[in-house]
Amino acid sequence: MKTLSLLSTALIITILQSTASTAPTATKYKHQWRRPGAGSVVSHSTNPNDDPYHDYIAILSDDEVRPWGDIFDEMGFSTQGSTKKTHSLGVSLSGKPSYNMTSYDVSGIRTFGKNLRAFTIHMRESEAEAMEDNPSIISLERSQKREWAVVPGSAKIQPPLPPADQGVRRFEIRKRQDAQVWVQQGNAPWNLQRLSCQHRIDAKGRLPTDLKYNYRFEQDAGKGVDVYVVDSGINVDHVEFQGRARMMFSYFGKVDDDVGHGTHCAGTIAALHYGVAKNVNIWGIKVGDSNGVNGEAIVAGIDAAITRHNQRKTQPDFMGSVISMSIGTAPPQQSDFMILQKAVQAGMHASVAAMNSATDACNFSPGAFSQQIPIINVGAADINDTRAAFSNFGKCVDIYAPGVSIVSTFNNNATGIASLDGTSMACPAVTGIIADELVRNPKLRLDPAAMKKHILGKALKGVIKPDNVLTGAELLINNGFPGDP
Ligand SMILES: *[C@@H]1O[C@H](CO)[C@@H](O)[C@H](O)[C@H]1NC(C)=O
Ligand SMILES: *[C@@H]1O[C@H](CO)[C@@H](O)[C@H](O)[C@H]1NC(C)=O
Ligand SMILES: *[C@@H]1O[C@H](CO)[C@@H](O)[C@H](O)[C@H]1NC(C)=O
Repeated sequence: MKTLSLLSTALIITILQSTASTAPTATKYKHQWRRPGAGSVVSHSTNPNDDPYHDYIAILSDDEVRPWGDIFDEMGFSTQGSTKKTHSLGVSLSGKPSYNMTSYDVSGIRTFGKNLRAFTIHMRESEAEAMEDNPSIISLERSQKREWAVVPGSAKIQPPLPPADQGVRRFEIRKRQDAQVWVQQGNAPWNLQRLSCQHRIDAKGRLPTDLKYNYRFEQDAGKGVDVYVVDSGINVDHVEFQGRARMMFSYFGKVDDDVGHGTHCAGTIAALHYGVAKNVNIWGIKVGDSNGVNGEAIVAGIDAAITRHNQRKTQPDFMGSVISMSIGTAPPQQSDFMILQKAVQAGMHASVAAMNSATDACNFSPGAFSQQIPIINVGAADINDTRAAFSNFGKCVDIYAPGVSIVSTFNNNATGIASLDGTSMACPAVTGIIADELVRNPKLRLDPAAMKKHILGKALKGVIKPDNVLTGAELLINNGFPGDP
């Protein structure tokens, strides 16, 4: 049996402390664990319902480098002689399978991961209890579904822009005194105006869904930044993406966005008329479909993004990487923490949604981890700078962004747009601002902690009124343009 190195002991302690107040505690069973086939029964109880089977997700410690077969054999889940299948999850950009998951016909075992090695397994609670003590395993938890951070039923298809404007860049070009070229877009959705002006919007009779607001941005904002959209896929053929959006990973066989959520979020980041950062490269990571999202897909998807980021990092045109994740659940999940921690350690920035339960954001994954690692947890505000009634709040919300009546690209066709509500819609606005700031501040390129400080420092202060007992951020995202358009 291996012994733990000091490093990984320290890491485990950090994780236990960081999630101690909120992490799910597995029901403890006092059964003695025996390796399958090792002789005696597993349970003291004669009632098998006392020791039920569940699906678990386990993450290996960094210093466990042995082949999977050796690891499972030692744990008693012998994979020798079992049927082993390779599933490609990478969407081929090069013609070669770029990301694999391997499944075995033993206990539903599936293995994956390069930066963080992980596996799923179907086993009894008593077996899980024993596995918790295994020094090779740094995190073990029940597999749990995630949710889209959009308000159900809030989607409203909107009348499209005039055909002559669709996907066509026709904005007013202006120059500042320092020769910086900036742009004013006159047919923007309200959320873009709000993050490029200093005061509350006076709607002057306009509806929040009207495309009659003004957005100001630097002409090259976000140019060349890689944004990884961890979501339902992207309608990459939408004219508004101008070929800048591509899929790179799918947990499923398919890459299309059958939900619409991912296309909408990607649009708020990058679409020509609805996006904050109109020059970024979008990389679609499909972790969910119409049946929902599961935790292993998120770990595998972000793992694939980290691998690509590490390859891009050394290339001359690398401008930085941002993860946008408008997905979550309660309570906080250790697997979310582990994979996002790996991402920020690799120098990736991340913006996540605070979720929509109108309660303390510290009870939700992955946003609660914004207190331990430099990811930015985003709540939602409306056009009157009021916290959206559905938005989570409190000290685990770092910043607010527009998240009510947000118009963006949709999955109905190549020109379709829709209005949606949710912290799902607020998170990508912050993602876009991070991308813009990466271009303006090359020193922050691989420093998510300094970037987070910078973004919070640029935010408008005291704008969002704390209308509840839990005080928290009153910050509203802003790109720093002076005055109002
Ligand atoms: C994925 O599996 C295929 C087929 O077994 C193999 O050719 C390929 O090299 C693997 N790719 C990676 C990234 O491991
Ligand atoms: C914002 O305030 C205006 C004026 O008070 C009101 O008419 C409008 O309904 C408010 N909008 C939202 C989304 O609350
Ligand atoms: C796309 O869908 C919208 C809304 O359903 C519709 O108004 C529009 O005509 C469609 N466009 C095309 C090109 O099919």
